[in-house]
Amino acid sequence: MYCYSRSSSLFLLSFIILLHNVIAADPLYNICSISGNYTAGDTFSSNLDQLMFILATKGPPTGFALGTVGVSLNRVNGLALCRGDVKASSCGTCIRNAGTEIRELCPLKKSSIIWFDNCLLRYSSLEFFGEIDNSNKFYMWNVQNVSDAVAFNDKVTGLLSKLAKEAYVAPSLFATGEKAIGELGKLYGLVQCTRDLSGGDCKKCLDTAISELPSCCDGKRGGRVVGGSCNFRYELYPFYDV
Ligand SMILES: *[C@@H]1O[C@H](CO)[C@@H](O)[C@H](O)[C@H]1NC(C)=O
Ligand SMILES: *[C@@H]1O[C@H](CO)[C@@H](O)[C@H](O)[C@H]1NC(C)=O
Repeated sequence: MYCYSRSSSLFLLSFIILLHNVIAADPLYNICSISGNYTAGDTFSSNLDQLMFILATKGPPTGFALGTVGVSLNRVNGLALCRGDVKASSCGTCIRNAGTEIRELCPLKKSSIIWFDNCLLRYSSLEFFGEIDNSNKFYMWNVQNVSDAVAFNDKVTGLLSKLAKEAYVAPSLFATGEKAIGELGKLYGLVQCTRDLSGGDCKKCLDTAISELPSCCDGKRGGRVVGGSCNFRYELYPFYDV
């Protein structure tokens, strides 16, 4: 079983991980902004349609896309990011599904973000490219505990910090890695930033996320801090393709 919460204590839900739906994966989470609404069929709405098309077209070859459509009050900015190990075809499927789901889950909202295992999609009437997103964030963790939380947390922090140092100097702003940790076997980690960030801001974003490990995932066998600009995940089993 896995749990998740938006930031620390806003709310807490638990759910059972079901077998992955083969047709379309379910979102991990979404946040609909309260900043403003558009009207069905208006110019903003058709700009948003175009933006979704651009992101789903531009995203898969590199795993990342930025797009802006329209002018002044009808302008909409968006980005899509696939997990760094996801193949182009799955990336395209994820972004297209995200574009459909976000409009169902956040109807008529001028800003929203949605996360899946394989991708994230965010759009807004406000300009947000190149800025660390500190407001959209949630945690997920495996409810099972390890026996020695303090030593385990240190190992997790060590691996994730090492990956953050690799990711921020890589063009992909993405890194995965594993580390043998004794009787628990191997620890697997993944870190990634959206590529509108500079390397320095990617590092800053990841360092902040990693510093939240004690609130998120203290002594948990697996966990994630997932934001609009960066995320990490660790598990005691392999969960990414190499
Ligand atoms: C947007 O729509 C929601 C739901 O209809 C409403 O509660 C909210 O006040 C609206 N927000 C703005 C900024 O108009
Ligand atoms: C894990 O530890 C927490 C905090 O000590 C406890 O509340 C929880 O019940 C434990 N979970 C399991 C599955 O044993």
